[in-house]
Amino acid sequence: MNTAWRPDDAWHFPRPSFAKSLVKQLEIGLATRLILVAPRRKGKTEFLLHDLAPEANRAGYTVVYASLWANVNAPHVAILDALNAAVETGRRRESITRKLLETAINRVRIDALGIGAELEFADRPAAPVAQDTTAIDSLIDALSQGRRTKLLLMLDEIQHLGTERAFLPLVYSMRTTLDRLRAVRVVFCGSSRGAVRKMFGEHDAPFYGFATEVELPDLGPDFTNFLSEVFRRLTQRHIDSEMLWKHFEALDRNPFYARQALKSMALDPALPMRDAFDQVLAAVAEQNDYDGIWGRLTLLERLLFLKVARNPGSAGLHSQESITRLSEATGSPVTRGMVARHLRRLVANHLISATGRGHYQVEMSGFAHWARQQRPES
Ligand SMILES: Nc1ncnc2c1ncn2[C@@H]1O[C@H](COP(=O)(O)OP(=O)(O)OP(=O)(O)O)[C@@H](O)[C@H]1O
Ligand SMILES: [Mg+2]
Repeated sequence: MNTAWRPDDAWHFPRPSFAKSLVKQLEIGLATRLILVAPRRKGKTEFLLHDLAPEANRAGYTVVYASLWANVNAPHVAILDALNAAVETGRRRESITRKLLETAINRVRIDALGIGAELEFADRPAAPVAQDTTAIDSLIDALSQGRRTKLLLMLDEIQHLGTERAFLPLVYSMRTTLDRLRAVRVVFCGSSRGAVRKMFGEHDAPFYGFATEVELPDLGPDFTNFLSEVFRRLTQRHIDSEMLWKHFEALDRNPFYARQALKSMALDPALPMRDAFDQVLAAVAEQNDYDGIWGRLTLLERLLFLKVARNPGSAGLHSQESITRLSEATGSPVTRGMVARHLRRLVANHLISATGRGHYQVEMSGFAHWARQQRPES
């Protein structure tokens, strides 16, 4: 039996209509594989687990969620574990979705206890052996056969597969499996737009043309109103939801910072909201070594980063006017080639990503906010 799964996180702001619209897209069959994109900490994983999974479950899907960061050195193991658990729970006639998501959410909760480092890379990457990829193939096959044939795979942190050559055999075998089993629906999710584009968007990319990009919409004032209301209910204290909205907006509408700030305020009734946000930002800056990252950038890179941060989606960084300004600011002649080279380095370091021809966007919003308060030359 498959009981609908209801998350009981009081702080979770549900996004039912977006979840419904994605399930509908998957159902209709026009786009059976989607990539959900948004900058870091914008709520992609939370949406997958708390909104999309239960909605897909209600529509009759068996949902399997795997985060490819669950095992940084051997991402195939994360996929195998998730699939095996789904088969096992199915055998025991438990609700697959419920069980899997409980495990996944526990893991996410653990991650969320600290502020958490922003990037994680493999230090000893391991390639899957043939047995692993064959097992993945037959497990997906088994889960999508029989009476309950609707299978939705959620593959989170997919960009991780693009970080090591050792992971490429996994990518290609997944592609082959999913090409064979066309009825299987997939939602990929990645944190860095640039890295996702490298996997799905470029002509020689391993997943080129494999999935349709959908943007996770930004949260609006109804989100901060909701948080204020939950805060009031749980603490019996009132907070200024207008002010919360202003802070939220100033921080690139990043739900993570808002939740952390409210947590501090709940624990310390005397803490003013501004200080709560400042503390969160300071903690994030420290955990993620913003000083160190900033210190490793050249003056030109800092100036370029700040330009992108101030003007999201900014184009025209290569224009004559921009070159002249950059030359003035750095005190030495800057060329177009130099701008291109340093932008590439910022992209390679996951600080910004190219969103279109000559257009760039900041990837780490917390870092952008922090950087705006620094002097580029110091
Ligand atoms: N709908 C929501 N309601 C309440 N809080 C939310 C919501 N979405 C996100 N958050 C808060 O923001 C945090 C970050 O969300 P999440 O981990 O889902 O982001 P992400 O986009 O997956 O980040 P990453 O790019 O690091 O994987 C959550 O731990 C939670 O505190
Ligand atoms: Mg995530």
